Amino acid sequence: METIELCMLLLSTLAASVQTYQLREATVYWDAAQKSVLLKEGVMESEGGAYGFFNDTLLLSGWGVLEISAGHGAGSTQEDETTFFLAGYLEGYLTAGQMFSHYSNMYPQFLKDEKVLNPLKRFLSKQDQWSREQVRLRRHSDPLWKHLGLILAQLDGLQAGAARWAKSKHREPLSAFALQFLNGVGDLLDLVPSLTPRSNSSSAAGALRTPGMGHCTALIKVLPGFENLLFGHSSWYTYAATMRIYKHWDFRVSDTHTATGKMSFSSYP
Ligand SMILES: *[C@@H]1O[C@H](CO)[C@@H](O)[C@H](O)[C@H]1NC(C)=O
Ligand SMILES: *[C@@H]1O[C@H](CO)[C@@H](O)[C@H](O)[C@H]1NC(C)=O
Repeated sequence: METIELCMLLLSTLAASVQTYQLREATVYWDAAQKSVLLKEGVMESEGGAYGFFNDTLLLSGWGVLEISAGHGAGSTQEDETTFFLAGYLEGYLTAGQMFSHYSNMYPQFLKDEKVLNPLKRFLSKQDQWSREQVRLRRHSDPLWKHLGLILAQLDGLQAGAARWAKSKHREPLSAFALQFLNGVGDLLDLVPSLTPRSNSSSAAGALRTPGMGHCTALIKVLPGFENLLFGHSSWYTYAATMRIYKHWDFRVSDTHTATGKMSFSSYP
């Protein structure tokens, strides 16, 4: 009897937590005089430098939903770089909790051998310095580097916005490395094996070529009477990458070489 009651309690708690979602809205303004961001929580003001919401519906549908609109307010005279920085800032602020969790989930997937950590940090930081240098030298003459400058402004905003959230929760902010890690997963698949120190023994060389993680795994369940076969899958990826966010960006971009400022895509935090 007690067991049954406990079960019922657990089930109802589970049901309650499964049906909830959390909606957070915010608007950010760029204060040019102070060179700082003014953040308004709980409102979406169309005159803001960027505004939007994050609907945490992961436990309802398997996806959170993020919508960011940037550069449309303030008489639309905002510099593209400011628009991208603010869009990143807002995304970082709204989804920082997910970024922290996703980082914790993914870190042990990639960094099983701590020896790779310092070479990886060095590689990513040299790449970052090199890219920023190219942007500085070429952004006025080359649309490619100009656009990379905007993407880097967005990344800087992402880090700053996540740091703002962390401060409000009295947590350590995510490091620049954590941001590079979260945004470089496709690269890490190549970087980690190639930066792992090689030993001379042939068996160790063989182990390097064996994929370390179970990609594209699914959870499969046969029902007790063989009535059906159920399977679940978080993404075309490892189960640790289970936190997904569908993102919608709508940025007003004045750079004429930019094909569009609107994108909707499946993503991670
Ligand atoms: C947030 O998600 C809930 C549950 O799916 C939905 O009812 C609500 O309309 C969503 N809110 C927004 C602003 O999309
Ligand atoms: C691997 O071989 C090189 C060159 O022969 C040698 O200098 C190095 O000490 C060896 N490393 C290990 C881990 O055995």
